[in-house]
Amino acid sequence: MAMLPKLVSTKTISKNDAVIFLVSDDKQIPASHFSSEEKKYITSQFKEKKNLVSVNQYKRLCIVYLLETKKEPYLLLEACRKQGETAAASLNRMKVTSVTLADESGTRDAALAFAEGMMLGNYQFIKYKHNGKQDKNTLSEIRIKSTNANEESLRNLDAVCDAVYHARDLVNEPQNAQSATQLAASFVKMGREAGFKTEVLKKARIKALKMGGLLAVNLGSIEPPTFTVMEWKPRNPKNKKPVVLVGKGVVYDTGGLSLKPTPNSMDYMKCDMGGAAAVGAAMYAIAKAKLPVHVIALVPSTDNRPSGNAYAPGDVITMMSGQTVEVLNTDAEGRMILADALHYAKRYKPELVMDFATLTGAASAAVGSFGMVCMGTADEGTRNKMKKAGNQVYERLAEFPFWDEYDELIKSDVAEMKNIGGPTAGAITAGKFLQRYVDYPWMHFDIAGPAFLHAASSYRGKGGTGYGVRFLFNFFQNI
Ligand code: BES
Ligand code: ZN
Ligand code: ZN
Repeated sequence: MAMLPKLVSTKTISKNDAVIFLVSDDKQIPASHFSSEEKKYITSQFKEKKNLVSVNQYKRLCIVYLLETKKEPYLLLEACRKQGETAAASLNRMKVTSVTLADESGTRDAALAFAEGMMLGNYQFIKYKHNGKQDKNTLSEIRIKSTNANEESLRNLDAVCDAVYHARDLVNEPQNAQSATQLAASFVKMGREAGFKTEVLKKARIKALKMGGLLAVNLGSIEPPTFTVMEWKPRNPKNKKPVVLVGKGVVYDTGGLSLKPTPNSMDYMKCDMGGAAAVGAAMYAIAKAKLPVHVIALVPSTDNRPSGNAYAPGDVITMMSGQTVEVLNTDAEGRMILADALHYAKRYKPELVMDFATLTGAASAAVGSFGMVCMGTADEGTRNKMKKAGNQVYERLAEFPFWDEYDELIKSDVAEMKNIGGPTAGAITAGKFLQRYVDYPWMHFDIAGPAFLHAASSYRGKGGTGYGVRFLFNFFQNI
């Protein structure tokens, strides 16, 4: 397990330990910590638009960050996170273990965002590397000195970063060490740690419930499926009816008999439980921070493989809802398992349901890794709250059209629907398929683009990003 730096608040700055100052102009560079020459140097760097300046003093590394001017407050927060990651990388290169982050600027949330970038940037997945020790990041403590960051905000930041680490670990874990059963066991462990309830439905229960979609996808597997139910219900929740989260838990997607056609795309299909990781880790953060909201999360899980028994193109499957599906591509398996979970969610009479899934290459092609595609039936007020949360944490939403006409594209000659649309609007027809299984306000988030990165991107790192966790946490904080 990668080490999450400890976050503490402080009122003092030691002259022996590394320090980072956040300033909003050069007058705020603290004279007591720098010689006049050092100060001149920092000011000259600022003039050249180098906002993050390092000064290597005799006993310690000092970094000064001049907050950038941005059009919107949330853009400044994102700049802070990115600079936080850069600073953390410098500290790790110099084998620093502890740093004080001193906010001289008084800018709201800037220090928290900077610390967030440092914490998330410090993540590593090196459990399988023999030389892991020598590669291991050293940074293990961030002491925040800021009038803006109270104990509660530090606790919340710690909870959400801890959760993102968990989500990334789950996504990065390869399928040979993470069956559906093992994924469910990880959620149980996370529930015990954070304080939410879990129940894992096994194959016999899944059969009794007639979850035809999940069972069909699982036919090609030698591992049994699981269906995990997580619940966080505090004493006086703000919402009367629960919000239900649903996450796609395909621990590995070969495409099944419609074997993946895109070269090398199987190499990273261990990420196909990114939605499950997002909702499970969001539960972890919510419970750890004891947010006053009643939330339930559902994770249908299996791998998707070809075999003598695998479901096949042309099959007609009866889903848990009773509706029938003509399977025309076994690689469109995510919607098959999500449909049963969305139907299952009806029993909670939810106020709102949000599903997260690495569902379509089309969503990834459309927006890349810079945001998540969303669509659904939640009211405008709720959608605006979601967009705000997305901007705030910089896990932004790209809302796609959801017109009735797209529904025509999944009509089948032999069943109530088919599991693929035509050559166009692939992300939307996937959403339209899911819509057939909901009767409550609902939003679908396709995270196929951002869930797993092939090149490092600042504090999001490389590999599993934990995308969706910070979005959900922020959304529930402001519900
Ligand atoms: N797991 C994939 C989607 C995916 C693509 C996730 C890229 C992460 C990165 C999904 O199950 C899938 O294969 N979707 C198909 C659907 C098609 C057959 C209708 C796709 O997008 O090609
Ligand atoms: Zn697939
Ligand atoms: Zn998939």
